[in-house]
Amino acid sequence: MSVQIKTPEEIEKMRAAGRLAREVLEMIGDYVKPGVTTGELDRICHEYITSREAVPAPLNYRGFPKSICTSVNQVICHGIPNDQKTLKNGDILNIDVTVIKDGYHGDTSKMYVAGQAKPPAERLIRVTQECLYRGIEIVRPGTRLGDIGHVIQQHAESNHYSIVREYCGHGIGKVFHEEPQVMHFGKPGTGLELREGMTFTIEPMVNQGKRHSKVLPDGWTVVTKDRKLSAQWEHTILVTADGYEVLTLRDEEDFR
Ligand code: MF3
Ligand code: CO
Ligand code: CO
Repeated sequence: MSVQIKTPEEIEKMRAAGRLAREVLEMIGDYVKPGVTTGELDRICHEYITSREAVPAPLNYRGFPKSICTSVNQVICHGIPNDQKTLKNGDILNIDVTVIKDGYHGDTSKMYVAGQAKPPAERLIRVTQECLYRGIEIVRPGTRLGDIGHVIQQHAESNHYSIVREYCGHGIGKVFHEEPQVMHFGKPGTGLELREGMTFTIEPMVNQGKRHSKVLPDGWTVVTKDRKLSAQWEHTILVTADGYEVLTLRDEEDFR
């Protein structure tokens, strides 16, 4: 299967899915504070999503046991919510929400801080969001995937951070993870050329230390090998005739 071009009807459904996914991220922010467990955050999101006639895509996806991913501190991605550990002051956390609404997926994540962040963590979070934005800003018909990977990698590495290579963004629609794979590193002028009507995610994972990752024995939780911090931000993007539309854009973002 090659990369799909969505019809106007499909795009309308992708907008609705994207809107719901970003609403979950907006809603859950107030609950992220020292003392809460990621299990509690999972239950709140699950209830919100299912009460809006949608399905949390991660639940039972290839055996994933929960409705959202919660990745704390050195966890890069795919952290499993649990009731054992409470967040403590200064913990940084990515919450990754994917919903299925009317058959279509919306996938987005953002970074939160429990209490007060330390300056180095704050800086990692900010630069990682800038990496996402730099990738998004060049999306238009004719841009190539290598161009996106390149600007993201450039920004991370010029700030002395590293890009995780084992996980990437992805096409999205009726299927959660479809073609193409959207790498967060690469060479300008290489890779697939974008066309109007494509929908995909950009979701850079940026490490404070070295880029290497490993999966914990639970089979899901991906951590930095050096146990330094990692951050991630994700949006679902539509390629329009003259640029892009961020389908999961939140009200707090002063970005088109
Ligand atoms: N939402 C993740 C992504 O951005 C995928 C999570 S898969 C899960 O692609 F099974 F871990 F939930
Ligand atoms: Co994704
Ligand atoms: Co996601």
